[in-house]
Amino acid sequence: MKKPSDENLQMLKDLIGLGESSSKKTYYSELQDKISEIEVEKNKYKQIFENSPIGIIQIDINNNMLMANSSIIKLCGFSNEKEFIDNYNNNAFTFFKTKEEESIFFEQLKKTKNITNYETAVLGFEKEIIVVLNGCFNNNIFELFIQDITQIKKLLSQLLQSQKLESIGTLAAGISHDFNNILGILFGNIELSLEQINSPEKISRNLEEMKIASKKAQEIVKQLLSFSRNSSLEKKPLYLNSIIKESIKLLRSSIPKSIEIIVKLNEKEKAISANPTQMHQILLNLATNSMHAMEETGGTLKIETSEVYLDKEELQHYYGLNKGYYLMLTVSDTGYGIPKEIKDKIFDPYFTTKPLGKGTGMGLSVVNGIIQSHNGIITVYSEVNKGTVFKILLPVVEEIPVEEKNKAIYDQKGNETVLLVDDEEQLLKIETKILEHLGYKVISFSDSEDALIYFSQNYSNIDLRYDNAENKRKRIIRKDDFNK
Ligand SMILES: Nc1ncnc2c1ncn2[C@@H]1O[C@H](COP(=O)(O)OP(=O)(O)O)[C@@H](O)[C@H]1O
Ligand SMILES: [Mg+2]
Repeated sequence: MKKPSDENLQMLKDLIGLGESSSKKTYYSELQDKISEIEVEKNKYKQIFENSPIGIIQIDINNNMLMANSSIIKLCGFSNEKEFIDNYNNNAFTFFKTKEEESIFFEQLKKTKNITNYETAVLGFEKEIIVVLNGCFNNNIFELFIQDITQIKKLLSQLLQSQKLESIGTLAAGISHDFNNILGILFGNIELSLEQINSPEKISRNLEEMKIASKKAQEIVKQLLSFSRNSSLEKKPLYLNSIIKESIKLLRSSIPKSIEIIVKLNEKEKAISANPTQMHQILLNLATNSMHAMEETGGTLKIETSEVYLDKEELQHYYGLNKGYYLMLTVSDTGYGIPKEIKDKIFDPYFTTKPLGKGTGMGLSVVNGIIQSHNGIITVYSEVNKGTVFKILLPVVEEIPVEEKNKAIYDQKGNETVLLVDDEEQLLKIETKILEHLGYKVISFSDSEDALIYFSQNYSNIDLRYDNAENKRKRIIRKDDFNK
């Protein structure tokens, strides 16, 4: 046999990594050793791949699934890798809510090579599984790391709900105080009117007082209702300024007089895409903290909005945001401030410096969670004994909010016939009186069944049926809808 040249020898060594001695003798045993070494190494990684609690898959550039570990196979309800891969390759399911979303994701991943914490839902299964994906793109292969976060999501929404209750709790004290006052005004004026029954002028004045007090009660109820409605986390284009104004009305009841509230809202406001209830919650949580910080000393709570443009330069200070217009909400106070040592902890869940019963430590972590889910950011600046400033940036959107108009019923007059149903007898009486006063002919019932019998026999004479009995929800049926 021809002896290999030095150059070839070196190449052989480089190629299979064998030692000096082997190139002179036989390669076989060393090759054997090397192969089993590689085998051991391969099994080690295969084991990590298989045992990972996080689902891992590899997909090629033509969207063919190459391999999948047991976590993801199990998560998606398949019994083995082949079944799983076949289903994927035959388009029977995807890791995205829609096929379009899937192709956008892969295009993006191709461009950026890396995507982290992308949330979506697995399509094609009986129960929806919410997953978070991390992906990378290397050597024309997509690698996805998939984690089931359905349970976490559920817990988070429960947490948000309980935190919401907590902030309502804080308000309740202030509101019940207000309601007591209102009732005092109403009862006082009623008593007075009964005494002054022969003096119409005095009675008229008393009634005016009662009207103002009732309006205030109505306003408070309206605010509280805004909490119970919209309980889903759906977002819509809205003007933050109007949410702030509503929140302030509520806050005034619970904030002591020693704290001044200053509100400075930008005039030409752009909309943001947000969930109204969660925006209320942010304001309440921040204001409650400020109120606690100024409780003993008094001070000023300032709520401001303005629009800012973040260019490349400024983005460096706001990790995770993109270039563009943002709405800046600033909530500041002149309270006891936050010591440096705890500044990094205040957003942690359950971190509180307050005694039991006053703080749960959830307020800021919820605020932070909400802001992140709105693609925004929150920052804090504070000096001990001087005060604290929270700044929130939320991306501005182009859409224009659809205003929900409250029609002023009292301004509408008419002469049609109204069938009125209300199981609250007292309300039925006053509603009948008001409608009659406005010119309508009213046929009233406190029982839905009776109303229905009457309605079925006389519906051609009735222009409008107004049912306030069932489930306490107002239902208006117009004549045009009768035949539907
Ligand atoms: N405006 C503020 N002024 C001073 N300290 C604050 C302010 N806001 C938050 N903190 C500090 O951050 C902690 C965490 O706040 P938070 O998450 O709302 O929980 P909690 O109010 O229940 O304690 C508070 O306990 C307090 O020490
Ligand atoms: Mg708090």
